[in-house]
Amino acid sequence: MSDSVSLTEMTDFAENLARQAGELIRRERDGNALRTNYKHQTELVTHADVMADEFITDAIRKRFPGHRILSEETMPDLSQAEELDTPLWIVDPIDGTVNYAYGHPQVAVSIAYAEKGRVQAGVVHAPFAAETFRATRSEGATLNGQPIRHSGATVPRDALFATGFPYTKDHLEPLIKRLDAMIHQCRDLRRIGSAALDICWVACGRLDIYYENVSPWDFAAARLIALEAGATAGHFSEVPEGYPADLWGRDILISAPAIWEPVRSILRTASGYK
Ligand code: IPD
Ligand code: CA
Ligand code: CA
Repeated sequence: MSDSVSLTEMTDFAENLARQAGELIRRERDGNALRTNYKHQTELVTHADVMADEFITDAIRKRFPGHRILSEETMPDLSQAEELDTPLWIVDPIDGTVNYAYGHPQVAVSIAYAEKGRVQAGVVHAPFAAETFRATRSEGATLNGQPIRHSGATVPRDALFATGFPYTKDHLEPLIKRLDAMIHQCRDLRRIGSAALDICWVACGRLDIYYENVSPWDFAAARLIALEAGATAGHFSEVPEGYPADLWGRDILISAPAIWEPVRSILRTASGYK
């Protein structure tokens, strides 16, 4: 805990920020004046991504000047995830930017709070759907204030999975092999376009499985929400020694507990992991 602020109060603070940022990004899109750009040549970004990032990170800095921040648009230094000394906020101002730019509703603001590499509080707010997922460690997970639970799926064959694909198309082959194996052995696929919402949907039983390679801001908050909803979260390859698993984004797998091991095995085999 920080500055004698309880973890529940941390979650309240994050929720409040996520709701305000949600209003901002809604307003910017509804006003029909989206300005789009590209970062790293291929990755779509809008002016609202940057505005929302600045709004959230300024507010955190003001309230908790001693804390560190990892945010996708203004403070994307990933080495922050490995420094365990001071508390860390992990922010994705808009998860689902492509959806946002195309006028789709699956868009979320994601804010997580971690101490010593362990996420303690997480909020994922979807402003167009008016849905707010939140969790505080050991206190359960909620959607708009109501407790949520994973689907209870028992076999991959009857399970609906979500995944995603990177902006760069250079290393798609292994991902297509995994997709091939999963689509043959599960019920069907959804490509929703927001990793944070994919994971929250596993948390509330709208999906059974999520796997992907992503960055900490995409999943840190949602992963805690899924765990607190009783889902199993881990990786289908090894997390490097000493790296906080809560923030390691490679080969993430989150699912209803009974199918986690069978799906891990499908993904390991498809990936050629021994
Ligand atoms: C993206 C979304 C998408 C996932 C990508 C992420 P962004 O985040 O979460 O579902 O497949 O890997 O980069 O760019 O919309 O914040
Ligand atoms: Ca994202
Ligand atoms: Ca983003």
